[in-house]
Amino acid sequence: MSEAQLLDTQRAFDSVAADYDGPRGNNELIQRMRVTLWETVQRELPAGSRLLDLGCGTGLDAVEFARRGYQVLASDWSPRMIERTQARAVASGLASHVAVAHLGVHQLGRLSAEFDGIYSNFGPLNCAPDLHAVAAECARLLRPGGALVFSVIGRVCPWELLHYGLRGRFRRALVRMARRPTAVGMNRHTIWTRYYLPREFYRAFAAHFSLHGYRALSLFLPPPYLVEFYRRRRAWCERLGRLDDRLGALPLLRGMGDHFLIVMHRR
Ligand SMILES: C[S@@+](CC[C@H](N)C(=O)[O-])C[C@H]1O[C@@H](n2cnc3c(N)ncnc32)[C@H](O)[C@@H]1O
Repeated sequence: MSEAQLLDTQRAFDSVAADYDGPRGNNELIQRMRVTLWETVQRELPAGSRLLDLGCGTGLDAVEFARRGYQVLASDWSPRMIERTQARAVASGLASHVAVAHLGVHQLGRLSAEFDGIYSNFGPLNCAPDLHAVAAECARLLRPGGALVFSVIGRVCPWELLHYGLRGRFRRALVRMARRPTAVGMNRHTIWTRYYLPREFYRAFAAHFSLHGYRALSLFLPPPYLVEFYRRRRAWCERLGRLDDRLGALPLLRGMGDHFLIVMHRR
């Protein structure tokens, strides 16, 4: 991923920062996945732990963790997103628990603090130019035994294959199969994204981290951009959500879904 591509991605997220808490970045389907990450971090690390948020967006997770008693350093490559996180922390009266840093995941070498846990929600790591370098920096920043909790955009999303396949949009249906960074449009800008299978993703971290587990997010439920479908069939989709909760960690199924949630421990 080139410097120009990183800047494309930065501009794309800057352009949506003002309304990213709305349907685009925090609709009902996203909120449901968000809660799974919150509960996972809370299971892994006690309140009071020091957390690093990679790609914090508007700070919804950082402020929630601050509310739950954690100390959070919230970082993002988009300066507009960082402004939103800072404003949210101040407005919530939690600025003493949330520090912010305008920092890309490719710039973690600039940090020198120690953390108990590092989390990243909804795909910032799909935008990382070098995942092995991110893994080495996470290993440096995390205490031994510390936890990584990441939600990552997966390669195999059956809903997406079906949705676009049935409309004859085969190129769009197969976009996640690409091996190289892929251009994804947002708000007339471009985000450069790489897609991963969980095992493929873990390989970059394996030198420093043991794999604790992973699960599918939004496998039975549709991906967030199909939220209108969810709204029209809410009762039916609630049942699909329960299937996600019950079956999303089973072998085979856990490797699919719109996102996957992966937990690793520092050796
Ligand atoms: C889909 S949003 C998710 C935001 C937030 N984690 C959430 O849960 O709402 C992806 C975020 O990753 C950030 N991002 C993209 N590329 C990045 C990079 N190279 N380093 C750090 N953050 C990046 C974007 O600015 C954006 O805020």
